[in-house]
Amino acid sequence: MLRRLQEALFVDERIEPPARTRRCQFPPTAALERVISEVATMAKILVLGASGRVGSQVIQALDRNHDGVEVVMATSRPEVAARWRKEGRSAVVLDLNSPETFAHALRGAERLFLLTGYTSDMLHQSKMLVDAAVVAGVAHIVHLGVFTSRKDPMPHFNWHDLVESYIEASGIAWTHLHPNVITESVLVRDPPVTETGVFTVLCGDKPQGWVCTADIAAVAATVLREGPEKHAGANYWMSIEVLTGPEVAAILTAASGRQITCNVSDPSELEAALPQMNPGSVRAYMESAVMTMRLTQHGQMSAQTALRDDVLKVVGRPGTTMKQWAQQYFASLHR
Ligand SMILES: NC(=O)c1ccc[n+]([C@@H]2O[C@H](COP(=O)([O-])OP(=O)(O)OC[C@H]3O[C@@H](n4cnc5c(N)ncnc54)[C@H](OP(=O)(O)O)[C@@H]3O)[C@@H](O)[C@H]2O)c1
Repeated sequence: MLRRLQEALFVDERIEPPARTRRCQFPPTAALERVISEVATMAKILVLGASGRVGSQVIQALDRNHDGVEVVMATSRPEVAARWRKEGRSAVVLDLNSPETFAHALRGAERLFLLTGYTSDMLHQSKMLVDAAVVAGVAHIVHLGVFTSRKDPMPHFNWHDLVESYIEASGIAWTHLHPNVITESVLVRDPPVTETGVFTVLCGDKPQGWVCTADIAAVAATVLREGPEKHAGANYWMSIEVLTGPEVAAILTAASGRQITCNVSDPSELEAALPQMNPGSVRAYMESAVMTMRLTQHGQMSAQTALRDDVLKVVGRPGTTMKQWAQQYFASLHR
């Protein structure tokens, strides 16, 4: 939006570029008046986690189509917000651990993409933020959760369930997103699998449900853009393909033309590293991740091996298969 206002202010269509970009228009041109009236009717969306794996792709998806909405990127790091602003983006500092940053960041926000990190702090953080959102007059919260059955024994699944119940009780319209295992969180490494020839799964040779970040982002961006009139009270599930690690390795091998193998492992190495993990809230999340992998390894996560493609329902195209993801990912490595 900032960019559009700058363009409208500085562009005199009677002057040829490059000189026209330097001329400021007063009194306002029709273009400026048009932008001002557009701004008045636009829904402001605040996107948390905008620098992270999922949130950055939500921003990209909204960049491709931001009809009727203004997008504001949130980060806990002031230097990142400053860099984004320099790049012409709307950006605010919102530190989930500092509730005093909430009111300013939420000012004027009509829709909120609520993403928390890999930490049990999500409980306190989300509760405080939802309370602030009520005060700020937020109309719609879109929450990134997990592929819950709402009857799972893993703590981090239950934390997400509790956060969602709290959002529902707040009176704010809500939409909950439920991705299964995020493909990039397992398969995207530096150096990439095409160099190492191997990736690791910690749940033995048992199947897991997969969804790529672009699909989650496409659903999130569509819901945020279309708003509560269309999506209030909806749960969207994303588990596009159910595959074992070795099955994924065969798909990656075919797509890359290089031999890629799966190191079929268990969570004991991650478990051994737990005592060194700090802070305790991150350790608590990772303990829960270890528990999830053990249950998967022992075939006790049947609710998570279901197929659900709400990408099709929300975005109007099917979710991305592992083969399609691999082809796109390997092509991107050569760009
Ligand atoms: N991995 C999986 O398979 C999987 C599956 C289902 C659901 N999930 C869920 O996905 C979520 C994580 O998403 P992700 O993978 O995109 O995470 P990520 O890549 O680790 O990004 C975390 C984001 O949180 C922001 N952040 C960190 N500390 C913050 C703070 N104090 N205040 C405000 N923002 C903060 C970071 O931005 P700044 O540093 O710029 O602030 C960053 O953009 C978790 O809730 C997890 O349960 C993961």
